[in-house]
Amino acid sequence: MSVSIDVVHGNMATSKAQCTAIVVAQSCFEECMKRAEALCPDISTIAQQRGFIGKAGSTLIVPVVKETVQNVLLVGLGEARKGERSVELWRRAIGTIIRTVKQLKAGTVAIELTPIQVGQATSAQLLEQGIIAAMLAGYEFDTFITTHDATIVHALAVEFYTTERLIDTLQQARDRAEIIGHAVNEARQLKNLPPNVLNPKYVAAYAKEIAHKNNLKFTVFGREEMLKMGMGGIVGVGQGSVNEPQLVILEHAAPVDNAPTVAFVGKGITFDSGGLSLKPAKSMEDMKHDMSGAATVLQAIVALAQLKCPINVISVLPLAENMPSGTAMRPGDIIKFYNGKTAEVLNTDAEGRLILADALSYAVKQYAPDAIIDVATLTGACAAALGSFFSGMLSEHDTLAAQVALAGEKSGDPVWRLPLTDDYKVAMKSHVADLCNIGKAHYAAGATTAAVFLQHFVGDTPWVHLDIAGTAYDVPDISYYDRPTSTGTPTRLLIQLAMNYKV
Ligand code: BES
Ligand code: ZN
Ligand code: ZN
Repeated sequence: MSVSIDVVHGNMATSKAQCTAIVVAQSCFEECMKRAEALCPDISTIAQQRGFIGKAGSTLIVPVVKETVQNVLLVGLGEARKGERSVELWRRAIGTIIRTVKQLKAGTVAIELTPIQVGQATSAQLLEQGIIAAMLAGYEFDTFITTHDATIVHALAVEFYTTERLIDTLQQARDRAEIIGHAVNEARQLKNLPPNVLNPKYVAAYAKEIAHKNNLKFTVFGREEMLKMGMGGIVGVGQGSVNEPQLVILEHAAPVDNAPTVAFVGKGITFDSGGLSLKPAKSMEDMKHDMSGAATVLQAIVALAQLKCPINVISVLPLAENMPSGTAMRPGDIIKFYNGKTAEVLNTDAEGRLILADALSYAVKQYAPDAIIDVATLTGACAAALGSFFSGMLSEHDTLAAQVALAGEKSGDPVWRLPLTDDYKVAMKSHVADLCNIGKAHYAAGATTAAVFLQHFVGDTPWVHLDIAGTAYDVPDISYYDRPTSTGTPTRLLIQLAMNYKV
């Protein structure tokens, strides 16, 4: 469904939208209900009868007859406490509004930009986050569905109503939100495409086109070039597939001189069968999503170009398909990476770290960035530890980690830090090469040992690794996502980070 957004200054009672919606906070219930009475005088009585008290996720729908029938929709926020978690409640309330409006098959909805205090957010921030949530909630992956329900509404016009004057900050918030919401949805669309359509060359061609449209510098290397450059990781992982691996690099130049440079690196396994260390069938079902990191760093840099980001940004996408075949990498193979280090491959299903090793060393050597963030659906261990609501963050650079964590909280892509200390580093030693691609079993801590491996390829560059195995798709209970499809995590975080980055 396509969602169009308008911001309107005025009284929502005059709106002609088929549905008018107010978010009601439990903690200032009466105040919110007073404003709802302007849309429907009896609504407080109805709310009382139906037990609506503004609990998070709850809804109350009341049809009112004006010129036509309109639905007044109340959506509970829950308790508006201090801090960014309350802004997440606001996002989810907006998501619930869009879902409900879809069910009501309305084509227009007016939403009150709430005047209540939500966390520490300003009204411009609430508008921005509300619009992004509405756009995310409108997205569904229906590209391959040919038997559409004829009554389905394909376009939804959303009007955010505010009694505040439409000062520049609100207009700017709207423009920013549309860029960010679009980027997240485009990332979700790429991630949701099936692996028989989306292979490394498909992503490279798509990236080339979008780079051209957005004034980003674009570079791509194929198998032969990577072989010459000594990228044994990407070449090795891709060698079992008929689909050639690719390395894509996009560059955004800051509008000012001497700006810092941040590099993003995203894991782009377009399908992870496990290779010769074949995954069981169940574990393979979701493995089209194993390119989520690449999709997110791609769409983040596109949004950052559109937002005229004040710093230089580089996005590096190592792309390969991990397949078993007569030409596939074997357990026992020893490969050499771009920075000259070697690894013994004991499990071909631990392939993400192998392609990231080349991409990270390439980013470090070619760009000498001030910071480097990699994003990867890297380990089942991370998903098991943290579940669906926090991405794993591993780093030994506290200041960069703090910036990433703040960007996550503010944007709605929260992260939770896992340990990365010297104790774990021996786990990845090999007898026959510099490194082994799987940790010694008795060290456990699979998310951490994977990060230990990656750390060998970033040198002294401040670096944060984000493991999104648990958050990239199939996230329950968040109204603006569409389980089991892709979430787009952490596109919002990366954009927020780069826009506010300090060396
Ligand atoms: N792509 C998977 C990780 C993954 C698992 C992502 C579940 C999303 C959901 C990765 O390539 C992988 O297979 N990792 C192995 C590493 C192990 C062999 C050391 C894992 O996590 O089991
Ligand atoms: Zn794997
Ligand atoms: Zn993988």
